[in-house]
Amino acid sequence: MSDFFLQIDGKKVAAKPGMTLLEAAQTAGITIPTLCHHEQLEPYGACRICTVELEAQGRTGYVAACTHPAEADQVVRTRSEQLDRIRRVLLEQMLSHAPDSEELLELAGEYGADPGRYEKEASFCILCGLCVRYCAEVKQKHAVGFFDRGAKREINFIPEIAVKECWDCKECFPLCPTSALQAAYVLIESLMAPPQAESCGGCSGHG
Ligand code: SF4
Ligand code: FES
Repeated sequence: MSDFFLQIDGKKVAAKPGMTLLEAAQTAGITIPTLCHHEQLEPYGACRICTVELEAQGRTGYVAACTHPAEADQVVRTRSEQLDRIRRVLLEQMLSHAPDSEELLELAGEYGADPGRYEKEASFCILCGLCVRYCAEVKQKHAVGFFDRGAKREINFIPEIAVKECWDCKECFPLCPTSALQAAYVLIESLMAPPQAESCGGCSGHG
């Protein structure tokens, strides 16, 4: 299919039908921050950190670049005072859940977000869905999933699948922007490990 053109940050960019704004920007070497995006997975649009300003058909609005289709003659801005403000607030909220995430702290530095702005509710997960989607879409195992709704939503392993599939895989670990997955896995691992025989040489009276 033939290329069409749009403008991103003042640059004329060629894109193909089916491309998202994020993909169009990436082909032109323009960086947009992402947290829930992965090139092997279906676009998801959960974290909104990739929000850009879009001017099309006489209207201006804010859209998630990782899910929004690129179209001819769009005018896109990836950085502005308002976009920085949006990203700052998103990062401050995510940092309340995952205060030690290096990836979030690095972005916070870039966008001037205050990591201590919101009270900590450390769930260590920002619900980006990378682990869940990778396991379902790439591995087709569904060993990790979302549970509950709203504020109680969390991810967890499904023990009966995890016990068979996860030991030799762990491919979702490095995808996690907060390292929550490692913590969850360690927990599950310890819960599922057979109990060790107690041994204590110091006070057993031997010797
Ligand atoms: S555990 Fe990590 S990868 Fe999975 S949803 Fe939470 S933040 Fe995303
Ligand atoms: S990277 Fe686009 S919404 Fe998360």
